[in-house]
Order: sequence, then C-alpha cells, then structure tokens
Amino acid sequence: MIAQSSQLLEPPVNSGLSPAPPKHIAIIMDGNGRWAAERGLPRVVGHENGARALRTVTETCCEIGVGSLTVYAFSTENWKRPAEEVSALFGLLEHFLASELPTLQANNICLKAIGRLQELPASAREALKQTIEQTAANTGMNLILAINYSGRAELEDAVRSVCKEVASGTLSPESFTQEHLQRHLYTSEWPDPDLLIRTSGEMRLSNFLLWQLSYTELYVTPKCWPDFGREDLVEAVRDFHRRKRRFGGI
Ligand code: FPP
Repeated sequence: MIAQSSQLLEPPVNSGLSPAPPKHIAIIMDGNGRWAAERGLPRVVGHENGARALRTVTETCCEIGVGSLTVYAFSTENWKRPAEEVSALFGLLEHFLASELPTLQANNICLKAIGRLQELPASAREALKQTIEQTAANTGMNLILAINYSGRAELEDAVRSVCKEVASGTLSPESFTQEHLQRHLYTSEWPDPDLLIRTSGEMRLSNFLLWQLSYTELYVTPKCWPDFGREDLVEAVRDFHRRKRRFGGI
C-alpha cells in the first residue's frame, strides 16, 4: 500500500504550503511502437512495457494525491491496426486487469472505463465489468481507462441522448445549455482534467477528451510512454504548478 504524500512536490515559493495536487490528470500514452522499433522488438513488447509504465504512473498519482487519472488505452480509430496487434492489446488489457487487481485494492483505487464499451470483445468487456465491480467500493483515486473511445464519438453519443430527451418532450430546445450536454458525457461524474500529458513528442489531441480539455494545461515530453516513470510524472506535475491558469480571465 502506498502512503499518500505531497512531499514529492515542492511547495510554491514563499507559501510554506505544499501545492495541491491536480484533481485530474489525463494521459495520451503514445510511443509504444516506436519504443519497440528502436530496440528491434515487436510492437506488442512496446505495449507490454507500456502496461508496466501505467502501473508505475498510477501508483505515483496515488502517492501524490491525484483524484482521477484518465488514460487513452484504445481509440475508436485503433481498430485500423493489424488484427494481431488489436488482439494483443485486448489480451494485454485482460492480463493487466487480473494482475493489477491486488494493487488496485491495496491502493483503494476505483477502476472505471469510458468509451463504446459495448463494442469490445466479449471476454475483455466481461473482465472490465468484473474489475469495475470489484473496485466499486474503493474511495481513493479513480483510474479511468478510455477504451474504444474518441472525443467525437462521445459527443455524438451525448447529443443523441439529448435529442431523445427533446423528442420525448422532457427537454425543450430553448432550455438546453452546455451544462446539460456535459451531464450526458461519459465523464460527467469527474472534474475536467487539470493537466494533459502526452508522451513521444506529438503535438496533437488525437480525438481525446475534446470537450473536457478546453482549459487543461498541456505537457508534452519527447520520451516514449514505456520510458515514462515516476520522476517524469513528478516533473510534469511540478511544471503544472508553475503555470498561471486564467480560464479566460486576467
Ligand atoms: C500508443 O502507442 C499506444 C496505444 C495505442 C495503446 C496504449 C496501450 C498501452 C499503454 C498498454 C497498456 C494499457 C492497458 C490498459 C493494459 P503507439 O502504438 O501508437 O506507438 P507509436 O506511435 O510509436 O506506434
């Protein structure tokens, strides 16, 4: 079990207080394939090492006191990859869920998933459902896996739900607001991410949390995801604490 500690973070200058950890961190775990290619290894070995990095980063987020961690594990576009890689990724997900359950329980982590989960292979869907149920009573950090997820698909699903309310007469178009749409997002129960980390140097959102990232601070590192560890996460959070967030104000 990891003791929660903000000692990993430096206090703000002159404050004498430890800075509050980000309530919600989102991560685009990119570069598994390149990490493997650089070593002459199959892409799946990159993903396996990516799963190891996810474990380390999850534990570090718990230690720092982060409330929610959302990771992009499989996008709605990732089905375009070779069938063997897709199958290996879902196999890895099942293995991860089984092997990490004790760590999730010991750290009081609540596992959640967002995306079009109904389209996942049956065994992966079942493993996910079971782990979500087994960790549902945990009250610590939320680990949210974005699987078969894309921001546009999420918005499409949310707008469809709103349309149904309008069609049934429970909502008038005039009373519709953005807060209403927000309540229909997969992420409605969590605050928007404070910090988005993307590994492997790519400067794009890749259809991740398009609505929720409106005011999120971005942190891009050239490191590939399997090399991203505890110190890298701590450095990203330190960098976040140096940002001045204005949310459109002055
Ligand atoms: C992006 O790297 C990564 C993915 C599409 C998969 C992410 C999956 C993991 C980190 C495995 C562990 C996750 C779970 C939930 C078990 P890429 O393959 O696009 O890398 P590349 O851009 O270098 O080719």
